[in-house]
Amino acid sequence: MTTPDKAARHVAIIMDGNGRWAKRRHLPRAMGHRKGVEAVRELVRSLKDTPVECLTLYAFSSENWKRPEEEVDDLMNLMRKFIKSDLPEFIANDVRLHILGDWRSLAPDIVEMLEDALAQTAQGSRTLAVALNYGAHAEITQAARKAAAEGEISQESIERHLFSADLPPLDLLIRTSGEVRLSNFLLWQAAYAEMLFLDVLWPDFTPDHLTGALAEFAERERRFGGR
Ligand code: FPP
Repeated sequence: MTTPDKAARHVAIIMDGNGRWAKRRHLPRAMGHRKGVEAVRELVRSLKDTPVECLTLYAFSSENWKRPEEEVDDLMNLMRKFIKSDLPEFIANDVRLHILGDWRSLAPDIVEMLEDALAQTAQGSRTLAVALNYGAHAEITQAARKAAAEGEISQESIERHLFSADLPPLDLLIRTSGEVRLSNFLLWQAAYAEMLFLDVLWPDFTPDHLTGALAEFAERERRFGGR
């Protein structure tokens, strides 16, 4: 068990490996993404048994538009289905939805669904933050631009305009599938986050993997540049 002072309040995950999961089974990539959503659902359900106050998931990057149109459509349809089917559960389980990224430029029906879901879950005590059409370079650039327009560029003023402004500081960043890179995810927020790269494909990720990651986090000594 993690002791409260070593508990990770904010965990972010780069959910990688859906395609390889499907390929290994000679299934279409879409099946990997579908299984990936099931892993998301189980993980969100398990949050109440952990100290995690905020879980941020990289669902669709601003670079993912480069994928074949069919795959992009699959991912967008999965998003529609996920919001529709899981919204009642979020509300019942006190989960607040938050979105990071340029999500307002997604298809109008998705924007409408997300706006409705944000409004309906606004009172939740635990946060599920979903990065959608997200890229960290764009996030930092727009934050700096807004800070400049207000007449003051400082660390604080930039942070106030990041999509994560009202989220706890990032404690732990996990990437699945064995790849070791950040792929333009939470570059600002990860400055002092602990990193964990797991050799498990996203559809195989279970709440037990999160429990293990939290235990490893509790063992790490964080010095934030001090000694
Ligand atoms: C990376 O696997 C995964 C993605 C690009 C999308 C992640 C999306 C989901 C898990 C489903 C939607 C999420 C929500 C919150 C409803 P990959 O396709 O790059 O895998 P590969 O590297 O093995 O090809």
